[in-house]
Amino acid sequence: MGLDELHARISDKTAQLGVIGMGYVGLPVACVFAKAGLSVLGVDIDPQRIDKIAAGVSPIEGDEPGLAELLSEVVKTGGLRVTTDYEEVRACDVVTISVETPVDADHRPAYRALGSALRSLGPVMKPGVLVIVESTLAPGTMMSLVKPVLEDASGKRAGEHFYLGHCPERVMPGRLLNNLRFVSRVCGGETPEVTAAMISLYCHVVQADLDPADCVTAELVKTAENAYRDVNIAFANEVALICEAVGGDVWKVRDLVNKSPGRNMLLPGAGVGGHCIPKDPWLLVSRAQEQGVPIRLIPAAREINDTMPLHMAKLLDQALAEVGTAIDNARILVMGYTYLENSDDTRNSPSTVLVEALRQRGTEVVIHDPYVAEYQGELVEMAMGCDAAVMMVAHEVYRAVDFEELRSALRSPVLVDGRHAIPSLTGWVHRTIGQSFTP
Ligand SMILES: NC(=O)c1ccc[n+]([C@@H]2O[C@H](COP(=O)([O-])OP(=O)(O)OC[C@H]3O[C@@H](n4cnc5c(N)ncnc54)[C@H](O)[C@@H]3O)[C@@H](O)[C@H]2O)c1
Repeated sequence: MGLDELHARISDKTAQLGVIGMGYVGLPVACVFAKAGLSVLGVDIDPQRIDKIAAGVSPIEGDEPGLAELLSEVVKTGGLRVTTDYEEVRACDVVTISVETPVDADHRPAYRALGSALRSLGPVMKPGVLVIVESTLAPGTMMSLVKPVLEDASGKRAGEHFYLGHCPERVMPGRLLNNLRFVSRVCGGETPEVTAAMISLYCHVVQADLDPADCVTAELVKTAENAYRDVNIAFANEVALICEAVGGDVWKVRDLVNKSPGRNMLLPGAGVGGHCIPKDPWLLVSRAQEQGVPIRLIPAAREINDTMPLHMAKLLDQALAEVGTAIDNARILVMGYTYLENSDDTRNSPSTVLVEALRQRGTEVVIHDPYVAEYQGELVEMAMGCDAAVMMVAHEVYRAVDFEELRSALRSPVLVDGRHAIPSLTGWVHRTIGQSFTP
């Protein structure tokens, strides 16, 4: 099939779509395309995940408005089928890839999942298929890795026997469907004709700009937008540390800074987590660093954000000292273990860093999180016998906690708030990140 014919099939929705990787990104993508009327095949190597999705049940357990209902609907109508068997991908005219793209401990891109997906896809590619990578990539990866691996695995040539594009996702857990439908996208095709076919595909589901680009521009935009966020959060965190040191209140300072035209200071906090923000800055810089380009700001921002959970331990230490308890002998209630409020996603969670640091000092830790099966329980009961509580995630349920009850459960009324989620409490030793205090 030539590109013109494929483009026509995409436009009239007779093209069959394969979605490889049915995680936080791939699952909602598959659902919205199925709802739009395309026949969709979802592929994942995790059989438990596939069984769940095949039964119409979402494996994502955080608050994800509309997703569970939409999944159940498209599975029932047959618009979405799922499999672990790549053989079935032979029928697909378009394939999107949304597998994880983390970095290793040395911050280098780790493309094990991507490489494996490409090697499984290559031998089953239909002639003339359009392959779109939605996973986030280090700039240059489409041409230096995706293209040669697919050519090698398929024995086919890009631009002749198959077509390549990169359309990175801009979703965020908690708003997956909303972001998919209403946030603009960058469509980076190997050629302008491929880009045009990609735009025809995404306009079935995206009600926002679909900006044409080439592959490397799409790679750069995605990684730069997340690095931008990381750097700006690091700035807010650094100002918070300065405020604590010089007698200020970062929350008041931020409000007033943002009254100055063109300023948009972000929220400081107990740390940055998730699959994307902690690693996308490293993806952005990786190729340039290899070439000896001096990269300073982005790694410095990473370091600042990575140390914020340890700063929480320091605030705890100071607050406990006020009630005469040494942190090494204390028992601490950690409120929230995910990286984001009202989500079940624990990837790169700042709480893991705090918990490890506390345990290394001999501190006993009790973890509560309503979205993580392992840490569910009655908060007040779990607080009994603890010397202090530390709020790491501003889950909605924490805002509704009865603090009088919590106070009577704790051995001493100590609360450290890493998210500025709790209004001022009287009768407590209450510390909020970015606010100075006089002991
Ligand atoms: N999570 C987000 O909020 C978000 C937002 C924007 C972009 N992204 C990017 O999207 C990509 C996917 O992220 P995610 O959060 O959906 O990851 P995820 O871990 O939730 O999902 C990845 C899925 O791919 C599957 N998988 C791994 N190897 C496979 C293979 N060889 N064949 C088939 N399936 C395979 C895994 O089993 C998993 O279900 C990443 O590049 C990420 O940076 C994520």
